[in-house]
Amino acid sequence: MFLRCLKLAGIRNLATQTVEPGAGVNLLVGANGAGKTSLLEAIFLLARGRSFRAQVLDTVVSRGATSCSVYGELVIDGPGDTEVIRRLGVSRETGGGFCYRLDGATVNAASTLADTLPLLLINSDSLGLLGGSPKTRRHFLDWGLFHTLPETRQLWRQHLRAHQQRNALLRRGIGVDRRELDLWDRKFAETGELITMMRCGYAGEIAPVAARFTEALSPSLGNLELGFQAGWDRDQSLADALKLHRDRDIILRATQSGPHRADLKIRLNGRLATESLSRGQSKVLALALLLAQGAHFLQRRGCPCLNLIDDLPAELDQRHRRRVAQLMAEIGGQSFVTGTDVAQMGADWMDVSAAPAVKMFHVEQGRFIESLP
Ligand SMILES: Nc1ncnc2c1ncn2[C@@H]1O[C@H](COP(=O)(O)OP(=O)(O)OP(=O)(O)O)[C@@H](O)[C@H]1O
Ligand SMILES: [Mg+2]
Repeated sequence: MFLRCLKLAGIRNLATQTVEPGAGVNLLVGANGAGKTSLLEAIFLLARGRSFRAQVLDTVVSRGATSCSVYGELVIDGPGDTEVIRRLGVSRETGGGFCYRLDGATVNAASTLADTLPLLLINSDSLGLLGGSPKTRRHFLDWGLFHTLPETRQLWRQHLRAHQQRNALLRRGIGVDRRELDLWDRKFAETGELITMMRCGYAGEIAPVAARFTEALSPSLGNLELGFQAGWDRDQSLADALKLHRDRDIILRATQSGPHRADLKIRLNGRLATESLSRGQSKVLALALLLAQGAHFLQRRGCPCLNLIDDLPAELDQRHRRRVAQLMAEIGGQSFVTGTDVAQMGADWMDVSAAPAVKMFHVEQGRFIESLP
C-alpha cells in the first residue's frame, strides 16, 4: 500500500503542487520552517480528517487563503498481480467543516479514511508513550484494535454510549435511580470486559515484537516487558467492581473503574522505563514500540501501513539512526521521514543493507523538489 500522488492546496506554507512520492522511504530534507512537518500534517489530514498539531483547524489553512485541500491516490495490492487505486480527498473552508471524499463519493466519518489509509505517526509527542499520561498508552493499544480487530469498533461505540449514560446518571448524585444504573452497569461491564480482553491480547502480541526491536535498536537497554493494567482490580469482574464501588462513583459523580482507566506499564529489566532513560534512549524505545506496532499490522493485515516520522535524526546518534533505518528497511512499506541535514540523512539511508527504494525531496519554502539521495 502506498501513496503514489499527493495534490496539495492552501496548507500552511506549502505551495499548491503535486508531489509524487516513492513506494519506499521518502526523505524530506530542508531548513527549519521549510514545510517538512506540514507535508506530514497534510498526509495525516488525508488519513484522519484532522491535524496532529492544531486544535483549531483553521490554523492549517494558509494565511490569506480561504480553504485548504489535500488529495491522494493510494495504490493497494489487489488479487494476483492487480492493483486497486483508492482516491481520498479532504478539504476545508475556513470557519466551515471538513469535507471527506473517498473514490469520488462524500463520506461522513473520518474513521472511513483511517480505515482506508492506516497511518503510524512518530514525532516528539511519541515520547508520551513513556512519560506521558495513560491516555497515550491507551491510544497506542486502541490503534492496534481499530486496525487489526475491526470487530471492536462496534463494541467501542456501545461501550462509550454505556459510559456516557452511566456518567449522566451519576451526575444526579444520591438521588440517582439505582435500577436505571443497574441497566447501564450491565452494558458497560459486558462491553468493557470484551474490550479489555482484546486490549490484553493485543498487548501480549505486541510485547515480543517490541522486545525484539528494542534489542535490535539498543541491546544495552535490557529486557522489555509490557504489563497491561485493565483499569480495575481483575481479581473481580468489572460488574462486581462497579457494584462494589457504586457509592464512591455516586459521590464522585463519575465511573472510576473500567477500560477508560487502563494503562500499559513499560519496564526494562523489571524497572519502569521512565525511571532511568535518557532522552535519546526514550526515543529509541518509543520507536521500537511504534515500529513493532507497524510490523504487527503487517503480520495481521498482510500489507504494511504508512509511517510518518518527523525529525527522525533529532536526539539519535549515528549508530542508532542507522539501526532505525535498517529496521525500517526490513519492515518495508512506505515512509515519510523528515530531517534537516541532507548529507547525514543520505548517508544514514545509503548504508542500509537490502536498501529500500529511497527518494529524497529537498524542501524549500513550501516546495518539494526531488533530488538524488
Ligand atoms: N497557516 C499558515 N500559513 C502560512 N504559513 C504557515 C502557517 N502555519 C505555519 N506556517 C509556516 O509554515 C512554515 C513551515 O512549518 P513546518 O512546521 O512545516 O516547518 P518544518 O520544515 O517542519 O521546520 P522544522 O525543521 O523547524 O521542524 C513555518 O515557517 C511556519 O511559520
Ligand atoms: Mg518540523
